[in-house]
Amino acid sequence: MSAATRMPRNGPIRPRHPTFDLEEALAGDWNGGSAFRTAFFNAMSLSFPSGERFFIDAVREHEEEVRNPVLRGAVRGFIGQEAVHRRVHAAYNETFCRRRGYDLDELEAPFLEGVRWSEENLSPLARLAATVALEHLTAILAAALLDGRAGSLAGADPRVAELWRWHAVEETEHKSVAFDVYAVSGGCPKRLRQTLKYTTFNFLRDNFRAVRTMLRHDGHGPEVFAGGMWYLFGWPGILRRLIPEWTTFLRRDFEPPNEGDAALVAGWHPDPAMVSFAPDPARRSRP
Ligand SMILES: [Fe+2]
Ligand SMILES: [Fe+2]
Repeated sequence: MSAATRMPRNGPIRPRHPTFDLEEALAGDWNGGSAFRTAFFNAMSLSFPSGERFFIDAVREHEEEVRNPVLRGAVRGFIGQEAVHRRVHAAYNETFCRRRGYDLDELEAPFLEGVRWSEENLSPLARLAATVALEHLTAILAAALLDGRAGSLAGADPRVAELWRWHAVEETEHKSVAFDVYAVSGGCPKRLRQTLKYTTFNFLRDNFRAVRTMLRHDGHGPEVFAGGMWYLFGWPGILRRLIPEWTTFLRRDFEPPNEGDAALVAGWHPDPAMVSFAPDPARRSRP
């Protein structure tokens, strides 16, 4: 990794400020009427408020190492986008738990515990490495969601689908920022490869635990969870299909690829009936 070459590759990064009305949609199985697919996405959302705070803190701790003004701007954009994601997903989580009768504290506890453990046991650079690895995971999930490759939102309620597309677009926009900060902070590529394996394991373990709790609460038997595993890893295999992209991270010369990102972002046309955006406060305050 040559620190001199590390520059943001996706243009300026700016947080959007969306408002969604998901009160009714989140009360039911919003993702194509599928209990498993709904629980899988809801479980991902449960990890975001604590996980994205962890990402922000990990990057912020190394902000002083960043000398390049363009990358400094990208770091501010990254922090701004993740901060809005946290807030929107905290509201999403509160809504679906209240409407479905889930115990939000119980569901969130393992995610909070994972973050607490990392903060107490990992060095700042190891926490940044975990952020880089999880940003890679997020970026490949986001690309698959935006290009509709495996139909992960097929038949989804359009309001909720719009929220997931907004988040996926911003993950695509800022996907190389943590990697670039890690590089200028002297992070070791070998550590990244090891970190991707354990962060992926933890991500799946915590997600599936929350999915099982929610399915049990709704009275579903183990066959629904088993069917979901087939959906993820068998056919259509929305996670199985990501394995080739996941493994690119393990190559010694890995850098976040940006081919196709601009098209993914430009291909998103938010429906004003499903989401509204407040003006960017940074732009608003300018004369
Ligand atoms: Fe995010
Ligand atoms: Fe992110």
